[in-house]
Amino acid sequence: MQDLDFSGKRVLVSGAAGGIGRRIAERFSLAGADVVGLDLARGGSTLPFRLLSVDIRDPASVAAVCRGLEAEADRLDILVNGAGVLRLGSAETLTPEDWSACMEVNAGGAFLLMRAWIPAFQRQRSGAIVNIASNAAHVPRVGMAAYCASKAALVSLSHTVGLELAPFGVRCNVVSPGSTDTPMLEGMMQGKSGYARLISGQPEQFKLGIPLGKIARADDIADVVLFLASERAGHVTLQDIVVDGGATLAA
Ligand SMILES: NC(=O)c1ccc[n+]([C@@H]2O[C@H](COP(=O)([O-])OP(=O)(O)OC[C@H]3O[C@@H](n4cnc5c(N)ncnc54)[C@H](O)[C@@H]3O)[C@@H](O)[C@H]2O)c1
Repeated sequence: MQDLDFSGKRVLVSGAAGGIGRRIAERFSLAGADVVGLDLARGGSTLPFRLLSVDIRDPASVAAVCRGLEAEADRLDILVNGAGVLRLGSAETLTPEDWSACMEVNAGGAFLLMRAWIPAFQRQRSGAIVNIASNAAHVPRVGMAAYCASKAALVSLSHTVGLELAPFGVRCNVVSPGSTDTPMLEGMMQGKSGYARLISGQPEQFKLGIPLGKIARADDIADVVLFLASERAGHVTLQDIVVDGGATLAA
């Protein structure tokens, strides 16, 4: 298949300093797009795209950074909401702060960025949004109540936004990764040595394992994001593609 070409496209990616978001931003850059990344963290000097510092939990900061970007160019072709946080703990041990962090970053941050750019998408009558949820939005996971709930909220939000934007020819889709080799997964498994258990399954946690027998690479997720953002997916909206090697058995 011919490589996707995003020349002349303006792309905004949240969570672009690390992991999946960074790889998505790099891949759009390699495909010719003008990419701006947003993140709390710094990404180092070697990034092939511009990275702006913003806490996507904060409505005033998000509005300010988006106003600045709009002043530079009054259009956006693709928005990818990739920033996310994971807080682990059973429902009774999670703190209200854990709950707020998951809801405010994973669902709230995407809400703030979408509401900032929806008027531009409507004006243009073109554009695509891709939101990164999780297969944990589709199945319950032991010790992940706040994360699962926040990602399910993001999926529902995405579908509603997709419905509202469909009359403008603007598409909104979700990519739901399973276990993917990034700092977030390493943190959750306390190192890569735990990856074998993810693949073989953890029956005590009702996790079945990964039928394809491997952990995803960030590129596996980026491939699907770029496809959904491209004209190849021009008639695809309100969809949620689970990229988890079969781990959640099509749930
Ligand atoms: N890695 C996995 O196994 C996995 C599985 C399913 C879903 N996901 C999702 O994929 C996305 C990327 O995850 P990852 O594994 O690359 O994680 P990561 O922790 O490596 O990267 C997440 C990025 O989001 C940024 N971020 C966090 N809070 C922010 C805030 N308030 N404002 C701005 N930026 C903020 C972080 O600084 C970081 O650079 C997340 O939404 C995550 O929930 C990851």
